[in-house]
Amino acid sequence: MCGIVAYIGKKDAFPIIINGLKRLEYRGYDSAGVALYNSGVNVYKCKGKVSDLEEHTLQSDTSGTLGIGHTRWATHGEPNDINAHPHSSQGGYFTLIHNGIIENYGVLRRRLEKRGYNFVSETDTEVLVNLIEYIYLKGQVSPEIAVRLALSKVVGAFGLAVLCKDDPDLLIGARRGSPLVIGVGNKEYFLASDATPIVEHTNSVIFMNDDDVAIIRRGELSLKTISNHPLEPKIQTIDLDIEEIEKGGFDHFMLKEIYEQPRSIKDTFRGRLSSDLQEIHLGGLYNVLPRLVEAKRIILIGCGTSWHAGLLGEYLIEDLARIPVEVEYASEFRYRNPVIYPDDVVIAISQSGETADTLAAIKLAKSQGALVLGICNVVGSSIPRETHAGVYTHAGPEIGVASTKAFTAQVTVLAMMAILLGKRKKTITNEHASQLISELSSVPEKIEKILLLNEKIEGIAERFKDSTNFLYLGRGYFFPVALEGALKLKEISYIHAEGYPAAEMKHGPIALIDDKMPVVVIAAKDSSYDKVVSNVQEVKARKGVVIAIVSEGDTTISGMSDYSIEIPGIHEAMEGLLAVVPLQLLAYHIALMRGCNVDQPRNLAKSVTVE
Ligand code: AGP
Repeated sequence: MCGIVAYIGKKDAFPIIINGLKRLEYRGYDSAGVALYNSGVNVYKCKGKVSDLEEHTLQSDTSGTLGIGHTRWATHGEPNDINAHPHSSQGGYFTLIHNGIIENYGVLRRRLEKRGYNFVSETDTEVLVNLIEYIYLKGQVSPEIAVRLALSKVVGAFGLAVLCKDDPDLLIGARRGSPLVIGVGNKEYFLASDATPIVEHTNSVIFMNDDDVAIIRRGELSLKTISNHPLEPKIQTIDLDIEEIEKGGFDHFMLKEIYEQPRSIKDTFRGRLSSDLQEIHLGGLYNVLPRLVEAKRIILIGCGTSWHAGLLGEYLIEDLARIPVEVEYASEFRYRNPVIYPDDVVIAISQSGETADTLAAIKLAKSQGALVLGICNVVGSSIPRETHAGVYTHAGPEIGVASTKAFTAQVTVLAMMAILLGKRKKTITNEHASQLISELSSVPEKIEKILLLNEKIEGIAERFKDSTNFLYLGRGYFFPVALEGALKLKEISYIHAEGYPAAEMKHGPIALIDDKMPVVVIAAKDSSYDKVVSNVQEVKARKGVVIAIVSEGDTTISGMSDYSIEIPGIHEAMEGLLAVVPLQLLAYHIALMRGCNVDQPRNLAKSVTVE
């Protein structure tokens, strides 16, 4: 998720673009760049924040009334000056900024290489700008046609803006899957990923739809589809304030990120689940897959929510690939002198990629000769650089300190790894694997359904906002989810909460239960359902107040519970991805009702960079 801004008009484009990029930095902040048309296209870009770009251009000629700018959240190619946007084509005819993921960039790149194109960056975006140039020169067509033809060959998501050196009065914008907004001013136009860079200049905007292309000349806009059908621009007047837009109209980043999960999970398996849902491709593991398949033991390490994702990963990998898995708190693993064998595979899980405990554990494992892989959300951060290989979650920037969409993206990657290993080790049949892949691909729409229960969950939160303790219970795949639900409540509402294996309750925690103890039981229909029924009876026998997460149409446990929240049915191995969402919302609403700062809870940091 990057931020893009463009301007064409009478004013100096550079200050407009720089201010706009600063507004979009919540979307990505690892490198930035601008291209300005002033007797040719001048490109300035560098690693770091927009303020670093300002520093970088202090001595440069930044004049020009046509320009494009980009703040990056790396997906392909780590953050550095070369991978930063804008990218220019080999002959310099086109310069482009892009937000999204080109899934078939590998195929397109190889075709262009055969036609004499060389690539300077690792990005998917450079492939697109060269494809546009190739069509422009080969086809002798207009810049607009070259852009549309190139986009018709692209698989994936894009929001983009393009300059052509042969036309000082032309700005082209296009989108599919990633957002793009046109700002309509007085004889000037703006393009941006959302309205935040635009509203200080005009409230008249056009929200582009998928496959729309905007051809903007000075004072003139035409809108059409990639396949050349003319469109009537629908200008809307917006009166949203900046902060509201950054949060996408949500009150907090945490709520926005909870609602982003259908998209972030889709982006995490974008280009990795084959279109026929038969295969899984994890390019980042390609070179190490044989060693992973032969691993005698896998050790998952992480902290906090990432550790909980690891626990779900243990259940998935042991269940589907039959490889022994251990899950370690990175901080404990680091100092307890663990036994690590050279044929062990250690997988470090981290949203930020900068957690000191996890980094230290990685270095220890490497020093013992283990293959060390990473699952991380920040391209180019320390953990991906320290590990031998890995898989990026594509959840986009996670601003709320309480991790939500990164958790479900991590579990999505672990599920893909477990299915891939199970297929390679033939511990699951191809039929079972494709059933699991299609179940996984159904998760986004099922989460959409759960999000419709937000108001109901808010009502339940109202009942419990003054509680002082909470117990979360789950069995099997739901035990790690119980731990995660408890952590979410603890870290943002400051209520003491514990997650427990449901069966473990009667070995102690049951002593805590009385009519003041809320007990969240995650009890969707699966192989341990009947056992959970008796656990709920044990809680009710002590007058505990039960909030149950149940499957749609459940009557037994919902009949015994004080409150129940239904989630759609899904294969047992994927149910953790659904059941955690109501728990995220419950914690969010309770914290809000207690007046807590849900995005920046006390005593916590988004990335813990000290041991
Ligand atoms: C989770 O909501 C917390 N922010 C925290 O527990 C976090 O998961 C932990 O610090 C690990 O961070 P990482 O995933 O960035 O390594």
